[in-house]
Amino acid sequence: MIQTWRLDTPSQTLILASANGAMAEVVYWGQKLPADEDLSQVYAVQRIDVTGGMLDDNPPVSICPEAIRSFPGQTGLIATSNSGVQLTPTFVLHEAEEQQDLLRLVYEDSHLQLRYTATFELHCPTEVIEASATLESAEPVHVHWLAAPVVPGSQASTQMLDFAGRWCGEMQTLRSPWQPGIRLRESRSGRSGHENFPGLLTLEAGTTNTQGRAYGFHYGWSGGHRMVCETLADGRRQIQFGHAMHTELAAVRVFSTATLYLTHSTDGINGIARAFQRHVRQRVIPATPTHTPRPVHYNCWEAIYFDHKLDDLKAIASRAAELGAERFVLDDGWFGRRDNDTHGLGDWWIDKRKYPDGLTPLIDHVHSVGMQFGIWLEPEMISPDSDTYRAHPDWALGPRDQTLGRQQMVLDMANPNVQAYLYDAICELLAHNAIGYVKWDHNRVLPLPDAAQTRGTYALFAKLRQSFPQVEFESCASGGGRLDYGILAHTQRVWLSDSNDALERARIQHAAAIFLPASVTGSHVGASVSHTSGRVHDISFRAWVAAQRHMGFEMDPRALTADEAQTLSHITRWWKTQRDWLMSADILRLESNDPAVLIEQHLSEDGEQFLVFVNRLDTSTQILPQMLAMTALEADARYRLELVNRDELGALSRGNPLLKHDGGEFSGQYLMAQGLSLPWSFPGRCLVLKGLRLR
Ligand code: GLA
Repeated sequence: MIQTWRLDTPSQTLILASANGAMAEVVYWGQKLPADEDLSQVYAVQRIDVTGGMLDDNPPVSICPEAIRSFPGQTGLIATSNSGVQLTPTFVLHEAEEQQDLLRLVYEDSHLQLRYTATFELHCPTEVIEASATLESAEPVHVHWLAAPVVPGSQASTQMLDFAGRWCGEMQTLRSPWQPGIRLRESRSGRSGHENFPGLLTLEAGTTNTQGRAYGFHYGWSGGHRMVCETLADGRRQIQFGHAMHTELAAVRVFSTATLYLTHSTDGINGIARAFQRHVRQRVIPATPTHTPRPVHYNCWEAIYFDHKLDDLKAIASRAAELGAERFVLDDGWFGRRDNDTHGLGDWWIDKRKYPDGLTPLIDHVHSVGMQFGIWLEPEMISPDSDTYRAHPDWALGPRDQTLGRQQMVLDMANPNVQAYLYDAICELLAHNAIGYVKWDHNRVLPLPDAAQTRGTYALFAKLRQSFPQVEFESCASGGGRLDYGILAHTQRVWLSDSNDALERARIQHAAAIFLPASVTGSHVGASVSHTSGRVHDISFRAWVAAQRHMGFEMDPRALTADEAQTLSHITRWWKTQRDWLMSADILRLESNDPAVLIEQHLSEDGEQFLVFVNRLDTSTQILPQMLAMTALEADARYRLELVNRDELGALSRGNPLLKHDGGEFSGQYLMAQGLSLPWSFPGRCLVLKGLRLR
């Protein structure tokens, strides 16, 4: 007997089938099918042949491929009993629960007393499917690997796109062909990390940013993931995501994967980006406490590092506020005896040498100039040279003689005493100081990966958020590398990179936009000479790059020249006039055949307006810019265009393209089919084009 289940979003259909109660398989996932499609026929027609050199029947690429069925690839579950015996369950369908937008399939092996549950939840407004799996056992078992529900890789896709990275070089895009065997990505550092972002796209031949079929995957877990993209000898493909292997260190009765976020697009990579960006905004992040527009940040790290002096900080705050900042974040160095990064982590009390009257004088000053106050913490870490470590050396994770990272160790977040200490210390700080924002850092990898660590961190976040619902949290991902949706379920912003070099930043944020909306992606205007690359960029480029995301400043504002200050406040004022719609716009990546140029179109959710940011990163091989064509406009609608920053064009732009004096009005069709000729500009500049739909 064949049982089938069908789930639909407005543009996708997912069909699962199970033969005679065996583990279900995804028999179709892709573009929406007509309502009257015969599901058992779909099951029948996608079944593959048998020939020489094969088993007499093909074990399915099920949602949890089973070893017992002679599956010729990676299985979905690897577990052993408490005494070390390999568990090879034969799961039989026990129950299928179908609701609007939800499917839960429960399987049991009554002999081994194991239960496997797969859940698929659809979110129609965002077009994202959330899938997860749980294993339950009567006796504690060791779960070495459990994949979130496995989906087949489309044989029409030719390419896998995933991400590598490093500190100040995050989100580097990798493209690999499907080949026999496995493409494996596994983050074994105990955090999602810069090196292995837990995301994947599979693309058909010819799929670009703006067109073609693509599938998107994201595993929402901060403790390190494992991705297996496998091509079997028979040509079938499977895609598995789960926690990094062997990170559940104890035997357990219940083990759940994190959520695997899935989406399919017929609009190229942008369709994936739009779905994931909307999903993060609408479903993943906690509501921002005040529901106010995203405030312009000022972060003092690159202005003062560890050199905290109240008068300087007050002067900096005043100047930042004059320039348009609305939230002041006091970075590392305010606590313990933290004069550099060799000591003090864990001593979460205010350094009375630097702040004899506590933080109140600074906070009052920050408030008096109209800004909210935020603070830096790195709760999961401890310096061996700290009072807290001296009192509790057993609180640190891993061996005493471990290799340190940034001279620090990691606290054991599964230890209730550590949880209690951190909760009390942070409560004390937040309860007695008017702090509206916490930048939460994580500047080293774990000595060994351990899922309990991530659960402990999530638990602490949850408790703090419950006690301080008005406080917003940021996952500082350049220290921590945690950009995943697991951490975003507890935080409202990520610090994407420590590189404030506008050129590098533009590239990093452009890649990250496949998964992250502008509203959660911090981007700051750094110093004229970048502190991490030594590159020099003009203030307008630095400001426009930051204005493409959640904008902030991170230089010493007292060091800006009068011209720089004027440009920065002008662009910041402009950003504030746009942010209400811009922070909920879809970031669409435009094609650029010129590698020197990186272009984004930010389209409002209602399609009424858009901004195109043309980031000129380098000089081009040709003399003049290529035509700029847009995407996702309504073909028959008319749009009025305007070059927002035409005042920045230099004298070397001597010609007269229309955009220089009047943007003109065009149909969406024209703008998408051919587009516009752009004025010439220097490298290290950004042209900003505004489009308004006419009524
Ligand atoms: C990390 C962060 C920086 C800053 C420093 C402070 O590197 O990414 O923004 O907060 O830590 O030590």
